[in-house]
Amino acid sequence: MPDIDITQVKLDIEKAGSLTELEELRVKYLGRKGLIADMMSVIPSLSKEEKGPFGQKANSLKNQIKELLDEKQKTLAGGSIAKGKGSGIDIGMPGIAQELGRAHPITQVIDEICSIFVRMGFQVVEGPEIETEFNNFTGLNIPLEHPSRDAFDTFYLNTADKLLLRSHTSPVQIRAMRANKPPLAIVVPGRVYRPDAVDASHLFMFHQIEGFMVDKDIKFSDLKGILEVFAKGIFGKDIKMRFRPHFFPFTEPSAEVDISCIICKGKGCSVCGRKGWLEILGSGMIHPNVFNHVGYDPKKYTGFAFGMGVERIAMLKYGINDIRLFFENDLRFLKQF
Ligand code: DAH
Repeated sequence: MPDIDITQVKLDIEKAGSLTELEELRVKYLGRKGLIADMMSVIPSLSKEEKGPFGQKANSLKNQIKELLDEKQKTLAGGSIAKGKGSGIDIGMPGIAQELGRAHPITQVIDEICSIFVRMGFQVVEGPEIETEFNNFTGLNIPLEHPSRDAFDTFYLNTADKLLLRSHTSPVQIRAMRANKPPLAIVVPGRVYRPDAVDASHLFMFHQIEGFMVDKDIKFSDLKGILEVFAKGIFGKDIKMRFRPHFFPFTEPSAEVDISCIICKGKGCSVCGRKGWLEILGSGMIHPNVFNHVGYDPKKYTGFAFGMGVERIAMLKYGINDIRLFFENDLRFLKQF
């Protein structure tokens, strides 16, 4: 009578080194012409007394073998991809954990600044990096032959219509005011370009955030109040702020804004050049000529505007002394934020 030695089965299955080998064993034992089928086939010819116990034995062997095969299949499938032998890929190997990325420090500072203004009701708007001469200059009251254009040295594109890489985010004032009626309260983060030689404080590409508010009766004191919330939000409650008269073609009056030095608290140190103050942005009341260019009545509306360099704010906030660090993408630097 056919019989199966379960110890031998166990050894065979244990030795199987691949899914193909295991499949061969499955056919050998459980296949249609396999050893279990052999056992089953003799049952009809057995005597009544033998049939029961022999049938049970065959069944129990079949179940045990099936279980052993299934068990081994799981181990093998975990160790090599289902293609089996020779795939060379071991999907059972422990994985290499992916480190979570993070936002670039400049992106983080942009987000932080914008969210302060958003909490005060400002809307975030973006504009294109390629601009017209009108939006970058003329509309902002910087006439063609005016010497103040020198202060905004610019990359021009080689096009007949004098397109350029915007040298500041102020042109988005023109875009937003032309497309909307007051009241407006908008901040504009974005990249700007200037043909500067690269050193510890200059790059030919950097980021600015422009802000402006236009409505009936907007006053210089509104500008002051809004900027104070911003400066304290970024640099801390104890910061002092001052307005220093300045000139910008697109604002009148204009002012530069300083904060008390965050390193020496105003006593005077090397970071603030012994002055105790650090310049953080330019600002002023929007010039009537700008309103004329966008079709707003300067007798009806007033507004303020300001613009700041994001890298400068980030450098002051984190005590970084070389602007190039932001764009070298050295992970030892980036991981600190
Ligand atoms: N656009 C100026 C610059 O790039 C910054 C600026 C100054 C923007 C004063 C303003 C402003 O809106 O009122 O240097």
